[in-house]
Amino acid sequence: MSTFKAPKGTYDLIPPNSARFLAVRDAISAPLRNSGYGYIETPGFESVELFARGVGESTDIVTKEMYTLTTKGGSELALRPEGTASVLRAALEANLHKAGNLPVKLWYSGSYYRYERPQKGRYRHFSQVGAEAIGAEDPALDAELIILADQAYRSLGLRNFRILLNSLGDKECRPAYRAALQDFLRGLDLDEETLRRAEINPLRVLDDKRADVQKQLVGAPLLEDHLCEACKAYHEEVRELITAAGVVFEDDPKLVRGLDYYTRTTFEFVHDGLGSQSAVGGGGRYDGLSEMIGGPALPSVGWALGVDRTVLALEAEGVELDLPATTSVFAVPMGEEARRLLFAKVTELRKVGIAADFCYGGKGLKSAMKSAHRSGARFTVVAGERDLAEGVVQLKDMESGEQTAVGVGEIIAELEARLG
Ligand code: HAM
Repeated sequence: MSTFKAPKGTYDLIPPNSARFLAVRDAISAPLRNSGYGYIETPGFESVELFARGVGESTDIVTKEMYTLTTKGGSELALRPEGTASVLRAALEANLHKAGNLPVKLWYSGSYYRYERPQKGRYRHFSQVGAEAIGAEDPALDAELIILADQAYRSLGLRNFRILLNSLGDKECRPAYRAALQDFLRGLDLDEETLRRAEINPLRVLDDKRADVQKQLVGAPLLEDHLCEACKAYHEEVRELITAAGVVFEDDPKLVRGLDYYTRTTFEFVHDGLGSQSAVGGGGRYDGLSEMIGGPALPSVGWALGVDRTVLALEAEGVELDLPATTSVFAVPMGEEARRLLFAKVTELRKVGIAADFCYGGKGLKSAMKSAHRSGARFTVVAGERDLAEGVVQLKDMESGEQTAVGVGEIIAELEARLG
């Protein structure tokens, strides 16, 4: 062990486990790549102000959880706590919205940072795959995103997740609801901090997990009873479209997300096998965010799925991913001549697309065969001086144990045929 350890709240992805993370990222992005979403990558840090304005001055993310720094040049930067504000910033900066092809559909994958209290499923460095559809107000787009997330989870073999759906209204109907909720909250027996929250961000109080608070919230006014006609019709159409697609969801009138930019459709994917950090993904519509960060009106919708928690959910369900073998063929040379020959053969195998590895370090046969076993290879190619004198190599099937001599010139074709 070295003197250093991974920082608190972080962990390293190392083989063989890391293969599961790659597979999850691939599985989440596959339906997006298949649905017109283009890949975008933005810097790992942005101006603090972008998140303060975008995610919201009063959110936990901005007030407590951002890793901020001042550069030598005096810029105030934050490690990105989420992807939506950055992606929208980048799209606006590149004028993607002016190319005459709205919505601009983008997907991304990367590291995010939040200074949260670490616990299982909650880390200070975590990984998301996300999608944003920018510049269109169309319930079919909200439905598309929910359907694609459902498809991604199902393609991984995940079954025990639930989709919670709500509408947070818009600038027409939310202010009146906000006021009604505030009136209600002021009459409750709440601690000072919660009362303060009720003044700044009353919807967040609905999300309070404490039982004594939840008990008092039973009669709270619900946004669904205050939605304007346009929001109601919009929400109804989203519900109809995802129902028609066979996607099962639950209406959750108390679903409030931890970011302030949401309007209308909001949703969360929860997995019941994860304990308190049960949200494996979430998202919604953010029609006002572009204007909040200085852009034109660009109604948009998106989601981000947590890769770490999706991996934990797969573990909780006991799902074994069908991971491709990292090595199909392992080459074991005995002697210098064999070393040169097999090294060339391994290079050739890789060129034709067969995953191959080589026994490095001049090991003896016994220890080399141990490495071959450990590599998980289906076949081992062994060659010694006597084999080469006869113009053959030994091909060993690691499953059956059967060994056959194959001509040096035929080994690549033989392996291609056997590996299909
Ligand atoms: P979020 O709900 O804050 O949304 O994060 C999305 C997902 O990231 C969560 O459901 C969770 O799986 C994962 N996640 C968040 N924080 C942590 C953490 N500390 N440790 C492990 N996993 C975590 C957003 O980030 C929005 N940008 C989603 C969005 C995109 N909305 C519209 N477009």
